[in-house]
Amino acid sequence: MSADDLKAQGNRAFAAKDWATAIDLFTQAIVVAPENHVLYSNRSAAYSSCGEYQKALEDADKCVSIKPDWPKGYNRKATAQAFMHDTDAAMETYETGLEKCPGDPTLTKGLKDLASSASGSKDPMQQLSSLFTAPDLWAKVAMNPDTRHLVGNQKLQKDIDEIKANPSILMAKMQQNEDLMAILGVVMGMPTAPKKDDAGASTNDTDVDMAEATQEEAVHEIDPEEIVVDEVEEKRLNALSEKELGNAAYKKRDFDTAIAHYEKAIELHPENMAFYNNMSAVYFEQKDYEKCREMCKKAVEVGQEQRAEYALIAKAYARIGNSYHKEGNYDDAATWLNRSLTEHRTKDTLNKLNAIEKEKKEAEAKALLNPEEATRIKEEGNAMFKAMKYPEAIKLYTEALTRNPDDHTIYSNRAASYMKLGEFPHSLKDCDKCIAMAPDFIKGHTRRGNCLLAMREHQRALEAFEKALSIDKDNKEAIDGVQRAYRAMNERLQNMSEEERAAEAMKDPEVQAIMGDPVMRIVLDQMQNDPAAAQEHLKNPEISAKLQKLINAGIIRTR
Ligand SMILES: *[C@@H]1O[C@H](CO)[C@@H](O)[C@H](O)[C@H]1NC(C)=O
Ligand SMILES: *[C@@H]1O[C@H](CO)[C@@H](O)[C@H](O)[C@H]1NC(C)=O
Ligand SMILES: *[C@@H]1O[C@H](CO)[C@@H](O)[C@H](O)[C@H]1NC(C)=O
Ligand SMILES: *[C@@H]1O[C@H](CO)[C@@H](O)[C@H](O)[C@H]1NC(C)=O
Repeated sequence: MSADDLKAQGNRAFAAKDWATAIDLFTQAIVVAPENHVLYSNRSAAYSSCGEYQKALEDADKCVSIKPDWPKGYNRKATAQAFMHDTDAAMETYETGLEKCPGDPTLTKGLKDLASSASGSKDPMQQLSSLFTAPDLWAKVAMNPDTRHLVGNQKLQKDIDEIKANPSILMAKMQQNEDLMAILGVVMGMPTAPKKDDAGASTNDTDVDMAEATQEEAVHEIDPEEIVVDEVEEKRLNALSEKELGNAAYKKRDFDTAIAHYEKAIELHPENMAFYNNMSAVYFEQKDYEKCREMCKKAVEVGQEQRAEYALIAKAYARIGNSYHKEGNYDDAATWLNRSLTEHRTKDTLNKLNAIEKEKKEAEAKALLNPEEATRIKEEGNAMFKAMKYPEAIKLYTEALTRNPDDHTIYSNRAASYMKLGEFPHSLKDCDKCIAMAPDFIKGHTRRGNCLLAMREHQRALEAFEKALSIDKDNKEAIDGVQRAYRAMNERLQNMSEEERAAEAMKDPEVQAIMGDPVMRIVLDQMQNDPAAAQEHLKNPEISAKLQKLINAGIIRTR
């Protein structure tokens, strides 16, 4: 095949953005015609397009060395250098190019654009990546016929987000995702891919023969701008641009502009529920909840007709719920968030629903609060207690607590009523609550002791009474309680058989530890067989203490 044929095929591959094939074909052409500067220029463009800037630079250099008076060679070279963020070198290349080709419009513009983009920031990476943060980025992308198919491309959005977070990965990302390069080209004036007359040689260069002209046509034929976009598609794409413009305005809180764009988007493409969702977001921000809900319902209607994604429908439902929440209507908020969840379960919505239910309970509880009323009801309860109408008393105390859950005396009184009815676990719970609120309220502890005594939890009862004594050592009820606890303990031990007592004692972890101690085993063994030796052991305070514990527990008995 001739170099020209290979070049023509390479140009076609280039136009189809198939960089690898284009490079391959240009390379084959170079083998046939190694002194054709256009081939290096074209291959340089292909290398730049796929991020191989070093190779792009080498080809551009070669092109310039073959044909130093051809402006495009300098343009290629400067492009590669700019991509390698060597701004100074790129400027120099443009300047050299302009010396050789004075007044060349492409080089003049290239130099001007580069100078203006370099002046803003010293770090070209920062400079480049900052372009991605422009609020109207997507609007620009959507407006450009070459790039608008990229609107809504999630991979692209993700890459851009990552670049925003970490500008230093820009170059790496651009090499992996050629779409990034395409949109970068749109937002800045820099050449990204050659224009339609760029890949071929369109100048009236002496080296260019007739084949160049036909090949220029070949490229022209498949230029994307020439592809006829059908009307529906056109509208759909224009609607997406309107949406992007709306989103940009929304971000700036310019709501009227946002609505105007969303309205246009809906007019152009009424089947896309996302536009209605977008519009509802504006009404939400404007606190026009009625209109917001109306728009959400419209969105759902359209979405269901068009079989939109569940996530989008869920979004509309959730927004309805959120709008009710803003109005303090917890029930409707919960209902709609619940509905959103059945459509598409997300953690966010679930959390929101839980938060609303909690908030609702708190709001209801708060609405009931009334300490004076609580005291009045408590006194009614006290009267019932005196009249020995304990269930009625409990009911009143419970009601009093909804009016004032911070009054520990109500818990204490209700505990007393439960005691009377023999409902000890309930009583104990109220005592615990009372003590948690008022640790120094002595009655809470003595009530708790009495309750535990009734539950035959003698040890815990003893501790409760001792706690009361630590607050007031002269408290009669507590002193009496301690004695009753001890009495009950003794009585219980006496009522037991020896085996029962030992079994009981073994429940005590301390006793368990002593019985499991090998040294103590030997000591106990000796005591049985050699009581005199036992006297020796008692001189050791540690062993003595352990033996005493066993005696107290009734495991060994003294004569
Ligand atoms: C190149 O040649 C064409 C046709 O011969 C002519 O119309 C055009 O003006 C020339 N362009 C330049 C840049 O000389
Ligand atoms: C508009 O809709 C798109 C797609 O659902 C969404 O990504 C975007 O955040 C929305 N914008 C607003 C302002 O709601
Ligand atoms: C949510 O819906 C489910 C069934 O669809 C229902 O069982 C549940 O009670 C609802 N929860 C709320 C908070 O409305
Ligand atoms: C001990 O036994 C007597 C008689 O059987 C009984 O009345 C008493 O309640 C028992 N005491 C304890 C603490 O179990």
